[in-house]
Amino acid sequence: MRTFLLLLACLVFAIVSVTGFRGTMTTRNPIEIFPDMVRQAKVKEQASSFFFPDQRASRYPVSGTVSRGDAVDDPYRNTGMIGDHWGEGIPIALTAETLRSGKERFGIFCTACHGATGSGNGIATQYGLVGVPNYHAEHARQMPDGQIFYVITHGQGLMLGYGANLSVEERWAIVAYIRALQLSQSATLADVPIAERQQLEGK
Ligand code: HEC
Repeated sequence: MRTFLLLLACLVFAIVSVTGFRGTMTTRNPIEIFPDMVRQAKVKEQASSFFFPDQRASRYPVSGTVSRGDAVDDPYRNTGMIGDHWGEGIPIALTAETLRSGKERFGIFCTACHGATGSGNGIATQYGLVGVPNYHAEHARQMPDGQIFYVITHGQGLMLGYGANLSVEERWAIVAYIRALQLSQSATLADVPIAERQQLEGK
C-alpha cells in the first residue's frame, strides 16, 4: 500500500509538472500534434528577407495580376459614381489601343451572352439563357457610362460581376468598346467625316 501511494504521488507530480495546474498561463507553445499554421515560415512587410536576391520582403505584384482597389484616388474612376449619381464620361485615355483592349476583353468575357455586336444573341442564349438585353435598345443607349462600369464590376440580375477578373482600365476600355458598338449600329451621316460622306452620297 505504501509503495502504491508513493507511486501515485510520483505519477501526480510528474503529470502536474508536465501539464501544469489547470488555468495556469504559459508563454510556451502548446503541444501540437499537427503543426498549427499560426507558426510558419513567413516574412513580414517592410522587413528584410534573405530569401530574395534583393533582400526585400515586400514584393511587387506578379505581372498580369489584377489589383484590388486602385492606385489612382478617383472615386468616379473606381466606382462609376459621383456621389450617389451615375457619372458620364470615360476617365481613361481614349486611344485606338484602349478600344483594341476593350474589344479583346469584351470578346473573352461578354460575347458568350451579349453576342459579338452586343445585340444580346450570344451562344448562351441558344442554350436557354433568357433576358440578355440588347445594347442597341434605347434603354441601353441611354445608360450612363458609370452605370455600365458598375454593372461590369458588380453584375446585375442574372449577370455576375467581373470586378475581380478585369482591372479598372480594362472595365473602362470595355465601356468604350460598348459605346463604339452602339455607334456602329446607330451612326448617322453626320458622324461620317466629310470626305467619306461625299463618297457615300455618291458625289
Ligand atoms: C452569363 C451571361 C452574361 C455574361 C458573360 C455577361 N453578361 Fe451582361 N448581362 C447578362 C444578363 C442576363 C443581363 C440582364 C441582367 C438583368 O438586368 O437581369 C446583363 C446585363 C448587362 C448590362 C445592362 C444592360 C441593360 O440594358 O440593363 C450591361 C451593360 C452588361 N450586361 C454588360 C456586360 C459586359 C460588359 C460583360 C462582359 C464583361 C457582360 N455583360 C457579361 C448576361 C451576361
